[in-house]
Amino acid sequence: MVSIWPISAKRVSGELQVGGCSVTAIAERFGTPIFVLDESDLRSRITKWKSSFNSIFASNAGDIYYAAKAFISVEIAKMIDEGGISLDVCTGGELAVARAAKFPGERIEMHGNNKSEAEIAAAIDYRVGTIVVDSLQEIDRVARIAHAKNRVQSITMRLNPGVEAHTHEYIATAHEDVKFGFSIVTGAAWDALLSATKHESLKLTGVHCHIGSQIFSAEAFSTSAIRLLGFMARYKSEFGSELENLNIGGGVGIAYTEKDTPMNVDVFLETVRNVIFQESTKLGLEIPRVSIEPGRSLIGPSMVTLYRVGTTKEIQLEDGNKRLYVSVDGGMSDNIRTALYGAEYTAEIANRDSNAPVRDCRLVGKHCETGDIVINSINLPSDIAPGDLIAVPATGAYGRSMASNYNHVPRPGVISVVDGTARTIVRSETEADLLALDVVESAVQLVEKQG
Ligand code: LLP
Repeated sequence: MVSIWPISAKRVSGELQVGGCSVTAIAERFGTPIFVLDESDLRSRITKWKSSFNSIFASNAGDIYYAAKAFISVEIAKMIDEGGISLDVCTGGELAVARAAKFPGERIEMHGNNKSEAEIAAAIDYRVGTIVVDSLQEIDRVARIAHAKNRVQSITMRLNPGVEAHTHEYIATAHEDVKFGFSIVTGAAWDALLSATKHESLKLTGVHCHIGSQIFSAEAFSTSAIRLLGFMARYKSEFGSELENLNIGGGVGIAYTEKDTPMNVDVFLETVRNVIFQESTKLGLEIPRVSIEPGRSLIGPSMVTLYRVGTTKEIQLEDGNKRLYVSVDGGMSDNIRTALYGAEYTAEIANRDSNAPVRDCRLVGKHCETGDIVINSINLPSDIAPGDLIAVPATGAYGRSMASNYNHVPRPGVISVVDGTARTIVRSETEADLLALDVVESAVQLVEKQG
């Protein structure tokens, strides 16, 4: 069974330790809520992905682009760089973090369906390896900005293969109505290709697709790869040359609870490799350089959120049962996924063991909203009490990165733990940080005064 907890997580005298640090010591030193990164877990996950990918795709292995949107900070970008993999950024902000970490530009790809001119210029100035173009206007914009800078920018086209993947099933041919990519089936992709290839300041090197997230089967990846290869074959027949790169996007799922059954990375990569190799041969294409963009599967399992219980409240339900509401000191501002996607998590009392019988609890936050739920229904020891620490695993992806300041709650920091040491990599916000955004200034005259 796949573990939901990071590799170093273990109980010592009943108490949870991560990276050799006890949760009590972490909470005392850094406060709660706090995101705890098991640094060895992340580093070993990067190494594992890299070695599997390189051995399975061999000379056709392109880049593994870590999807920064899952979670990025300067220290994380350095870990990604040290792990020898590449980086997918999709805004100027994510690019700024990469720059601050001195992440090599040639190993960055720039995504985004609505990049501003400033973002495009910043990407070109930083000499990013590729810009993934996603609209006709953007093709012209990138061409114009690159031309003005006297540069030839490598680009990749984001295609919509008409495949939508969900956790357990996928729908092919039924997903055209989205903002991302150029549809292959409607001909939009071909029109965009013709537009991209007419600019001398652009060098089209390949195609990309991203079909969804938290996916548990290789099938939809294979279907979309086949469709992209069909498009590459059309390019070959009309242009005589071949597009080199095929990027199959991110989306590999992870386990949040015992119910989740993620793919084995090796089996997944081998399946997709076999399909790509066979289809390329069938179409008379050179086997392309294959790239991939995992976000969640690299960072998700490496982090745990630590909360402290503030109150408990027993609620009488209409069916006669009782439910214990357990309120922690964070909630939807540090984990919006439950409210937004109905995501499911598990949790444990972290500071101690308990032999008390379990009871049905709802783990909720401190925000003024009924939907402020971390876990809708979970069995926790009935002696859970204010002061207890609660650990929620697998919160590394889309937790801190989607955090908000709702109710003016400062966002939690991130600490990295390894071998009994802990260091802050993103500091916790303070009320002063939030108040620093409130300004009192005199108005500027924007419109000439009349008369
Ligand atoms: N590449 C592209 C172009 C993407 O849009 C994404 C995610 C990824 C790669 C990485 O996907 P991953 O391997 O992390 O699944 N906020 C949602 C997930 C949104 C994903 C957006 N795009 C969540 O919390 O589940």
